[in-house]
Order: sequence, then C-alpha cells, then structure tokens
Amino acid sequence: MKTKVLKVDPQFPALSEIDEAAQALQAGQLVAFPTETVYGLGANALDCEAVKKIFAAKGRPAHDPLIVHISDLSMLEQVVSQVSAEAMRLAKHFWPGPLTLIMPKHANIPDEVTAGLGNVAVRMPSHPVALTLIRQAGLPIAAPSANRFGHTSPTSAAHVLADLDSRIEMVLDGGSTPIGVESTVLDVTQSPARILRPGGVTFEELQDLLETVLLNGQKTSQAEDVPQISPGLLSRHYAPKAVLALFESEGDQLVCAEMREKVELLLSQGKRVGVMCAVEDIPYFEGLDVDLRLLGSVDRLEDIARGLYLALRSLDEAGVDFIVAREFGSQGIGLAIQDRLRRAATHKEE
Ligand code: TXA
Ligand code: MG
Repeated sequence: MKTKVLKVDPQFPALSEIDEAAQALQAGQLVAFPTETVYGLGANALDCEAVKKIFAAKGRPAHDPLIVHISDLSMLEQVVSQVSAEAMRLAKHFWPGPLTLIMPKHANIPDEVTAGLGNVAVRMPSHPVALTLIRQAGLPIAAPSANRFGHTSPTSAAHVLADLDSRIEMVLDGGSTPIGVESTVLDVTQSPARILRPGGVTFEELQDLLETVLLNGQKTSQAEDVPQISPGLLSRHYAPKAVLALFESEGDQLVCAEMREKVELLLSQGKRVGVMCAVEDIPYFEGLDVDLRLLGSVDRLEDIARGLYLALRSLDEAGVDFIVAREFGSQGIGLAIQDRLRRAATHKEE
C-alpha cells in the first residue's frame, strides 16, 4: 500500500481533506495526524480489527495500551464507565490539551486498546487538525505516537513517513507539532493522582489544581516512591541509534565543561560525535569537530522541548556514534525533557 500524504493547514484545515481522512478511519484504516504534542497513528477505537492494525504497523507489543482521543466531552461517555469529580475538574481545566487521564474503561472499548487493563487512557487534543478529524469521523480514535516501536516520536509528517511509509493508509501533513514531547499521563483512578509520564502539562500546573499529585518514582521525605508500572513506559523507548551520554544540569557551566571533556575523549578515540545543547553553551564547543544541534535558549524550555526529537533524529541521520547531551533541570517542561533524555540514554546499556 502506498501511503497517501495530504497537506493540511494546521490552523484552518480544509474540510474536504479532513473528510477523506475521517472516512478512512470509519472504514477501519490507519491515518496519522498531527496533535499539539507529536503525530499520532489513529484508528477507530471501537473497532478491534482496526486497532490491531496499529500494533502491526508499529511493531508494538500487544501489552502496551493506547490512548483514546476524543473531540468533545460528550464522547467521554463512550470511552469510560465513570468520571470522578477530580477527573472532570482536570478535563475541564486542561482539555483540549496535552493531558491524558487514566480512568475506568467502558465495555465498548475493546481489550486490544487497553492491553486487557480495566482502565483506559483518554485525552482531548487541542490541535485543530486532530480535533476536526475526530469530530468528522464521529468516533473515539485510538492513537499512539506514529513511530515504529522503540523509535523517537515523530514531530513532523516526514518523521512519520521515515518510520511508517507503505504501512499505513494516510498521513495528514500539518507541519511540525508545537509542543514536541508527548502528553502528561495522569492516573486519576486513585487518590492522590499520580503522574505516570511527565509531558506537555507540567507538574507545577497540576499541583496548582490538585491538592496533592504524585510523580512516579519521585523521592519523598520518607523514602523513594515505588514507581507504578505503566506498560508502555519501558526504558527501551524514545531511543536514538547512537549511544547517548547525558549530563545532569547542576550548574550550566559545570555541565558544559564536563560535556566538553567527554567530547574530546570520544574524538580522540576516532568517534563521530553529536552534541545537543543550548545556544548559551556554544562557547564550550567551539573549535571541536562535532555535529552541533542547538535546541534553543535555556530561558525558553518550550523551544528545547519542541526541537528535541528532531535533533535526535537528525543526529542519527548524520550517522554519529555518540550523542553528548545535557539536561535542562526539572522545572516546568524541563521534567519531560529530562524524562525522555534519560530513557534515550539508558537504551544502549541494557
Ligand atoms: O501526546 C501523546 O500522548 C501522543 C499523542 C499522539 O496523543 N500519544 C502517545 O501515545 O504518546 P503512546 O502510545 O506513544 O504513549 C501512551 C502512553 C504509554 O506509555 C502507555 O503505556 C500509557 O500511555 N498508557 C496507555 N493506556 C494506559 C493505561 N490504561 N494504563 C496505564 N498507562 C497507559
Ligand atoms: Mg509512543
């Protein structure tokens, strides 16, 4: 099958193009589409044969559950069996937007979607193309990130095609995605709510709304929290081909000096090296024969998040052996950046 690419205006998508994609979804086919976080690979969430195609196209193990996307609150009734007061408060505050809520599953939703779990992940994306597509299809849409299993999530249609060309019916090309890292996954089946995956909605924003919110695996005053298993949060995720050497950001100058030492060592061993850093870090890498990817300013972590996956993919394309990268703290979206980089860094050590 040849994958059809339809260009759409990200702000004001033409209904004719969206209709074609919506019909493909209704017919049980796979359509990749932009959301505000990353591109999703969509199928009718109520059709178990369609959902199985997602797993086949991605090479994703069946034990890794999918997020169901909705376009308005009334659709929630088809997806979940009950909505707690806290879940409704969160939905009203953050939807449409990059927050995924784990809630008790409705009997409508096939077991393939939730990997047999009693709970389902659901979110309402804010991207106009995603919202319009779901609304036109009139169906809840199951959609993981539109990459081959284990690869970094796609933030452009080109990334989707690099991973899934000829394996899916259609891609809606709405340009690059504005947030660049995936949604925050929040388990609201228990109290206090627990962040299973940090993402586009920050810990601080959730804390502002909720009395208490737990962060999976976070150190508390008593002890280290035992992380709760979310089947898809295996560390073999978000991974580049190159080995990633990651440096914690305790102080910007210290971290860059350490990175430079590492780069010099790798270069002396004849390795090809890529560096991911902030524009402020440039002076530390001057005069070195490295592939530099400047992610943006340390004062604008949103820019750094937006370019993160593109930088990882482009360094893989450049064929580097090693990627030397730094973290950007854990405030705001920095936490999601740190989470993805740490997963990418553990990949090769397994
Ligand atoms: O931003 C996003 O969330 C993107 C866009 C396309 O919406 N989607 C995305 O989907 O990142 P995916 O499948 O790559 O990641 C979904 C995560 C996985 O870590 C999965 O394990 C977790 O959500 N998840 C899904 N259903 C769950 C459930 N019932 N219980 C616990 N975790 C669940
Ligand atoms: Mg994914």
